[in-house]
Amino acid sequence: PTVAAVIVAAGSGHRAGGPLPKQYQSLGGETVLACSIAALSQPGVGTLACVIAAGGEALYDEAVAGLPETVARRLLPPTVGGATRQASVRAGLEALAASASPPDLVLVHDAARPFVSAALVDRAINRALAFGAAVPGVPVVDTVKRVDGRGVVVDSPERGALRAVQTPQAFRFAALLDAHRRAAEAGRVDLTDDAAVMEWAGHEVHVFDGEPGNVKLTTAQDMARARAEAEGMLE
Ligand code: C5P
Repeated sequence: PTVAAVIVAAGSGHRAGGPLPKQYQSLGGETVLACSIAALSQPGVGTLACVIAAGGEALYDEAVAGLPETVARRLLPPTVGGATRQASVRAGLEALAASASPPDLVLVHDAARPFVSAALVDRAINRALAFGAAVPGVPVVDTVKRVDGRGVVVDSPERGALRAVQTPQAFRFAALLDAHRRAAEAGRVDLTDDAAVMEWAGHEVHVFDGEPGNVKLTTAQDMARARAEAEGMLE
C-alpha cells in the first residue's frame, strides 16, 4: 500500500512565546518542523504534505532547506491551512486528493511533535492496515474531571480507561477524506483530532501504544526543556 503523511504546522504557536511560531524555532540547530518532517519520512512513507499558515512560505522554505535530498524530494508544495487544526488537516488531505497519486493510507502528524520514533511511525502504519483507523495513546497519569461552565465537577471518568492520544494518527485515506468532508459540510468544526472526525463519521478507531517521549511542544517551558535536551544539557 502507498502511504503519505500530512504534517500540520499552521498553528500560531503563540502559547510557546518567542519571536517565531514554535514550529520554526530551533531545536539543536534544526527547526521543530524539520525535525518532525525528518522523523516522519521513514522508508514506508512516500509523499509528505505540509500545511502552513498564510504568509508562512518564507519560514517554511528556510525550515526545509537543510533537509537531505532524499527527504526533500518527497515534499509536496506546502498547502495553506485554516483557522482550526481540523480545517488545516482537511486542506492537507485535499492537496493529496488533488495530487498525481493519492495514497492508500495517510498519517496525520502535528509538526509540534518532533520526537516521534521510527518504531512508532511503523506501528501506526501497521495498525492502520489492520484496523483502518488507529491512533497512538498513553495512559493518563492525572485524574481527569469533566467540569461545567462554573468550574463545578460534572463527573470523573475512570482513569484506567482513559488514554491521552498523540500523533501520528493513521487511516485509510479515502475514509478520512470522506469523514472530513462530511464533518465540514455538517458544520462540525470543533473536533480536535482526526480520530474524533472518524468517530463522528461512525468509524471504529483503534488505540495502540504511543510513546511517553512523543510530547507536543506547546508552552515556552516545553520549548526550553526540549532545547536543553536537544543540546545535551540535561542528564
Ligand atoms: O494548537 P495545537 O498544539 O493543538 O496544534 C497541534 C498542531 O496543529 C500543531 O502542529 C499546529 O501547528 C497545528 N495547527 C494547524 N492549524 C491550526 C491550528 C493548529 O495546523 N489552525
